Amino acid sequence: MSTRPPRIALITTGGTIAGSANSATELSNYSAGRLAAADLLGAVPQLAALADIRSEQLFSLDSKDIGPAHWLILLRRVQALVDDDGVDGVVITHGTDTLEETAYFLHITLTTAKPVVMTAAMRPASALSADGPLNLYQAVQLASRPAAGRAGVLAVLGDRILPATQLSKRHPSAVDAFSSSATLTIDASDIQLHALAPYRYSRIHLAASVHSLPPVELLTVGAGSSTALVSAVVRALARASLLTGAAGLVLGLPGNASLPASWEAAIEADLPPSVPLVLASRCGAGVRPVHGERANNWLQSTTLDPLKARVRLIAGLGAGLRGVRLKRWFERG
Ligand code: SIN
Repeated sequence: MSTRPPRIALITTGGTIAGSANSATELSNYSAGRLAAADLLGAVPQLAALADIRSEQLFSLDSKDIGPAHWLILLRRVQALVDDDGVDGVVITHGTDTLEETAYFLHITLTTAKPVVMTAAMRPASALSADGPLNLYQAVQLASRPAAGRAGVLAVLGDRILPATQLSKRHPSAVDAFSSSATLTIDASDIQLHALAPYRYSRIHLAASVHSLPPVELLTVGAGSSTALVSAVVRALARASLLTGAAGLVLGLPGNASLPASWEAAIEADLPPSVPLVLASRCGAGVRPVHGERANNWLQSTTLDPLKARVRLIAGLGAGLRGVRLKRWFERG
């Protein structure tokens, strides 16, 4: 009986994992997204023993420059690959800065049971002890395991498996920038998958006719923040919603997503019912739902941090959900 090697599609998008500096000791002054997919693979010859890998370079970007338009292109490409019978799993390399947003977007919009694994690096490829090669190796290892597909989109960084729902960059330069107590570790020779929680979030379908995603802004409220900014943003979003049919606002709020009284008054005065508002917590997660009557365009993020709440709102509006349907779907996340 012949066991064929897993067939893995690698998509590269740029980032520090494809970054290079003038010297091996330079860790911060470098250009992200310089190396081609073939260079990343060439740095890890051990991959040949793991899988049959086909690669393509979709973008060469620093991830601070990746946004919803790129998410849509990436979604369509990854969906085509996972729908292909000749592909067993997909690995995506990406910058760390906005990795959590792209990963969460793909997590809620892809339709597949095949493994989709993202990876990145904190040190450029030219650095002493670059972390990219081992991260890439482990990402291919994970994507080669069909059981990894049951958990939605995953990321592999620093020996850890991180579900897209829990991915958060917490340090701007440390190699362990994505540390989280809720993660599984990868042993180089084996991967323990039994502890991965199965996907239990509601996916959303972005039809082929969707060519762009609506504007959704995110504001973080500091103690005593003036309402000048929110009033200006709300008015701009109201205009955008009239012009394009959808726009939204997410607020990163103190504590239990608590809206200061002055902000509540400003929003109530200016926010039209057509623009959904998400109340999320600056704490990152774990908001207790507040019961009581609120307009249908006021949504609550109970488990998602403000960045992921913004991604979810963009996807929901992009899929055409409005009013109560949007609220119901959003608050399940
Ligand atoms: C980026 O996000 O593209 C640059 C930073 C990184 O990848 O660590």
